[in-house]
Amino acid sequence: MTYVNDVFLRAARGEATPYTPVWFMRQAGRYQPEYRKIRERYTLPEIVRHPEVTAEVTRLPVRQFGFDAAILFADITTPLYGMGFDLDIVEGRGPVIHNPIDTAEDVRRIHLFSAEAHTPFVLEAIRILKRELEVPLIGFAGAPFTLASYLIEGGPSKNFVKVKGFMYAEEEAWNLLMRTLTNAMVEYLSAQAAAGADALQVFDSWVGRLTRHDYERYVAPHMRRLFEALKPLGVPVVHFGTQTMHLLSPMAEAGGDVIGVDTTTPLDWARDRLGTRPVQGNLDPTLLFAPEPVLARGVEAVLSANAGRPGHIFNLGHGILPGTPPDAVRRAVELVHTLSEVRA
Ligand code: CP3
Repeated sequence: MTYVNDVFLRAARGEATPYTPVWFMRQAGRYQPEYRKIRERYTLPEIVRHPEVTAEVTRLPVRQFGFDAAILFADITTPLYGMGFDLDIVEGRGPVIHNPIDTAEDVRRIHLFSAEAHTPFVLEAIRILKRELEVPLIGFAGAPFTLASYLIEGGPSKNFVKVKGFMYAEEEAWNLLMRTLTNAMVEYLSAQAAAGADALQVFDSWVGRLTRHDYERYVAPHMRRLFEALKPLGVPVVHFGTQTMHLLSPMAEAGGDVIGVDTTTPLDWARDRLGTRPVQGNLDPTLLFAPEPVLARGVEAVLSANAGRPGHIFNLGHGILPGTPPDAVRRAVELVHTLSEVRA
């Protein structure tokens, strides 16, 4: 398939590109006045259930800022409703689950997920976007550990005491939960790719709070199975987490064509350890609040850390923060394009 702009996909395959492609996690959201206007009429789950609105929200930042990829507008919680969970997204806080998992019995009650039956609106949004987008579309899902953390904690957590407690005390039920979530996310991501998503990202946002030993024991086997099951789809898959410097090797071994590098992991350090494996990252999202010369220095530092190696997708180390000035986003995209072109 040919695109007007396929630099993102070429970088994801590790190929040389005329400039460094850039997109930002959470590039669609509340920092945009246009998004806030749409949010006056629809809640987040309502946007996601209206494919035309989803498509519009997905396209907005690409049009406005010149990103080299679009990410489907949805949330990692979107497939959880169909699995029998009752939840709300609380502004400024995050997802809150009203019927969290407490016992092994609760794990056995999770409904089998079907993308066609439970999230047809997501697949329809992808089909609409594929007719109109001039850049590749990234589909996504939460990773089993990160989803399990919301499902067991009942909401966002600071110390992850409940989810780790369950994992340590109920290892059999934990493995069943991880297998159930893995199967559901394979189904969800496969359906997104079949509907036309050009790439996929797996968000394991909170897995960095585990020790390396616990990651290897309780998470890695499931992640290996997840990535193995996504291989036949033939689209590049990004594997992302935060505060994961100590997990770089086991996460990379578990899978993913592109490894997400968070803000706290030096990009050159990651690249030196990953060989030719493509990477994505890792500008500190707070630099978008800095004076322009400081932002420019930050962008330059990330590009310098990559040192012209092919297979770099520029991104933030984590999502855009609320209150980010849209002009800084526009400037950052421009800087990535112009500075990387000079370098190439
Ligand atoms: O532009 C994009 O990146 C696509 C959309 C997207 C959203 N959530 C929309 C959203 C993506 C990729 C996500 C993923 C997501 N959701 C993750 C993984 C990425 C990460 O940041 O680590 C996680 C952990 C969640 C769970 C979640 N959903 C949180 C923590 C929040 C923020 C709560 C808040 O109010 O600050 C949400 C809500 C959410 N998801 C918003 C958006 C635009 C903001 C709420 C709104 O508009 O009402």
